[in-house]
Amino acid sequence: MESTVFNKAEEFITLCYEELGKVDQISSRLNDIKIEIEESGTYVHTFEELEHGARVAWRNSNRCIGRLFWSTLQVIDERTAEEGDILDALERHVKLAGNQGKIRPTITIFRPSHPEKEDLRIWNHQLLRYAGYNTKEGVMGDSTSIEFTKVCESLGWTGDRTDYDLLPFVVGTDKEPSAWREIPTSLALEVPISHPEFPWFEDLGLKWYGVPIISDMKLEIGGIHYTAAPFNGWYMETEIGARNLADEDRYNLLPKIASCMGLDTSKQWTLWKDKSLVELNIAVLHSFKEAGVSIVDHHTAAQQFRKFEQNEQKEKRELTGDWAWLIPPVSPAVTHIFHKEYNNSWKSTNYFYQKRPF
Ligand code: ARG
Repeated sequence: MESTVFNKAEEFITLCYEELGKVDQISSRLNDIKIEIEESGTYVHTFEELEHGARVAWRNSNRCIGRLFWSTLQVIDERTAEEGDILDALERHVKLAGNQGKIRPTITIFRPSHPEKEDLRIWNHQLLRYAGYNTKEGVMGDSTSIEFTKVCESLGWTGDRTDYDLLPFVVGTDKEPSAWREIPTSLALEVPISHPEFPWFEDLGLKWYGVPIISDMKLEIGGIHYTAAPFNGWYMETEIGARNLADEDRYNLLPKIASCMGLDTSKQWTLWKDKSLVELNIAVLHSFKEAGVSIVDHHTAAQQFRKFEQNEQKEKRELTGDWAWLIPPVSPAVTHIFHKEYNNSWKSTNYFYQKRPF
């Protein structure tokens, strides 16, 4: 057990100090780490190691098309936050990351796993997310949130029962929740969706929150497991327009949009789904820009990813990627990504899924 932590530390510290131009300090740092592991079963990263590790983990995220910006990740060190400070720190993350619309890629890192303590977990999938409810008339809100919404209700939270009820923050261990708090709606930078040419579009009453902050993944750096480390970038429009609002088992809005557009939905070959999908994506981009909230379109994101590929090659690092996730769901073959193959092996400094606590 201890030797594996040390082996992983060795691998990470070597890479980290090489990239930061501190090769001369590798052996003394590793000596210290060895002693620390022998005494306590674990070791503590310096802020510099933590910061670089979180950035490298983004660089290594095979499914992310936005990795060009990996080195700009803003790292907030909350490893010493006590139970009672965590909800405040989450609120600060949402504010700092949202930055009044000029979104800053940000991660807040809480205390890692420790041999003598229960793991800390944030129970939300994303810090901002809409509730979902099973009703007699079908699902209301976001179907992916139904189970977590029940957890929130069991803690005493009640939603307004709209399609867009912001869920509260819930924190705890991997066994039980310990605290929860409602999020001030003003923090969510919600964007009402309208269309540059179709005036009726805004009457559909669609909206989405501004910042996607994944809060249920584990950050692993050099054998240390950060089980609570919410992070965000900004949205690519297809995530909202081609998935969240469009998937049949999510908000399923294509039939409604097609009928407002006057398209013939009785035959597949009119391509009514494709036409309404494109207009919905145009609306999402238009609305975020209008609201002054950062967003990227899938063509620009693919170009940025090409730049990332070139940078990695220049730095002689092997590029890894997950093709099925990297291609955008709208017009994939129009991007260069579609026409290439990617090596989908996973480097160990990374963000990983972890078992849901509920
Ligand atoms: N696809 C997820 C969503 O629609 C967000 C995943 C992270 N996305 C990002 N642009 N960083 O909510």
